[in-house]
Amino acid sequence: MTDKMNVNTFKAEDPNLKPHVESEPLYDPLRPVEELLLPAHFAWGTVTTAYQIDGAASQDGKGRSIWDTFSHLAPSRTNGESGDVACDHYNRVIEDVDLMASYGVEGIAFYGKLVDELLARNIEPVVTLYHWDVPQRIYDRYGAFLNTSEFIADFEHFISVCFMRFGDDVKKWVTFNEPYIISVFGYHSGILAPGRTTSTGGDSRTEPWRVGHTIILAHAVAVRAYARDYQDRQKGIISIVLSGHFYEPWDASSVIDLAAAQRRLEFYIAWFGDPIFLGRDYPSAMRARLGERLPAFTPEQLDMLRDQVPKNAFYGMNHYSTKNARALPNSPAEDDCAGNVEELDTNSEGKAVGPVSGMSWLRVAPGGFRKLLNWVWNRHHLPIIITENGCPCPGESQLPVEKAVDDRFRITYFGLYLDAISRALYEDGVKVDGYYVWSLMDNFEWSAGFGPRYGIAHTDYKTLVRTPKRSAWYLKDTFREHRKK
Ligand code: NOJ
Repeated sequence: MTDKMNVNTFKAEDPNLKPHVESEPLYDPLRPVEELLLPAHFAWGTVTTAYQIDGAASQDGKGRSIWDTFSHLAPSRTNGESGDVACDHYNRVIEDVDLMASYGVEGIAFYGKLVDELLARNIEPVVTLYHWDVPQRIYDRYGAFLNTSEFIADFEHFISVCFMRFGDDVKKWVTFNEPYIISVFGYHSGILAPGRTTSTGGDSRTEPWRVGHTIILAHAVAVRAYARDYQDRQKGIISIVLSGHFYEPWDASSVIDLAAAQRRLEFYIAWFGDPIFLGRDYPSAMRARLGERLPAFTPEQLDMLRDQVPKNAFYGMNHYSTKNARALPNSPAEDDCAGNVEELDTNSEGKAVGPVSGMSWLRVAPGGFRKLLNWVWNRHHLPIIITENGCPCPGESQLPVEKAVDDRFRITYFGLYLDAISRALYEDGVKVDGYYVWSLMDNFEWSAGFGPRYGIAHTDYKTLVRTPKRSAWYLKDTFREHRKK
């Protein structure tokens, strides 16, 4: 098993999927998990991030990040809660690594300590260099991502320190987690830190694209620095994690909706995937629709992107659910960032994409997952590691621990999504190398606070006791005994 930390089947139409009725039981026996095979070397792991679990907000001289600021705004933007204590992982690192080991995780320090403890238990650390918590002073000084050259200079310095300090032990690096979410949720809707919108001093027309541009170039600079100064000796690999739903056309018979679904995927995923993994400009649909809102790469920058392509060793995929894409009939809003496409949970026949989880946006749709694996493989041609996947069970946040640990909905979700990986591997020829679960334990879900519980261990936020859920043992058994080909 692997730990990604912040130093950290189906056919085209799944016969198991049926239209969702809100009154369906949490666990639906009509959607059987097939326990399809996975390769013996297939790595599984659990994911956590610094702000979501560490706590210790001002301990040992820790500086503030944009999330320490954002989670204390009044009125609250995070359900009245913050990551000040979170799961207190900073003070419980040994206990948490033991918990992972108990799941059979084979597979990141405070960070040196954390890395050492993981390796001592035969758990491979996979480190994400940036998971959303830019230092507040950098944001105050020059606007962080909004100042491309300053940010890149600081980022290159930071990552070099990480490679130097941890690179003998860490062999898998991720530069940025979910650039789409950083750019759009932080600088368009303002739901996540730093919470910028046109009405709060930002510019939703242009800032998300400027932020994305900085991330792409900073990623390439990091890959270049690693290859130039460390890779030969440290022998690790490096890439980036992109998020993205799969998009089905809202009306499957409409060429306009088919094009909308494709465009939505490009605005979400290929925005970053094309420059980073193909070494070329943004997708033409984005250039055509966004015009001058979208920054231009200089010839030198394109050369650099092209040079780094072969060094991206894998495609990190965070994936949870599927949506329907419907082309909007009118001209786009002046700050449109989705290709003038509406996202819906149901299609033109009123059929939902799948049963709803504990989050309204997250429906169980393994069929869409398999299609996305194919879409990414066909476009970017890199082995895929699922760097996040999981869900909160419906109603879970209201349950006492004794009931919450009986998380059959999550078990079914994992089972179906693993079946989708198996089919993508063996029927479609997609290369998938690993599967990391979000998350090791319930934790601070950003603007939703401690409400949604994604963990395979329950966290009692009063006592900070962690209790493994059934899904943890399901995964342990699944990867230890079954599914080996
Ligand atoms: C996306 C993010 O990487 C992670 O921080 C978040 O908590 C999960 N997915 C669930 O929304």
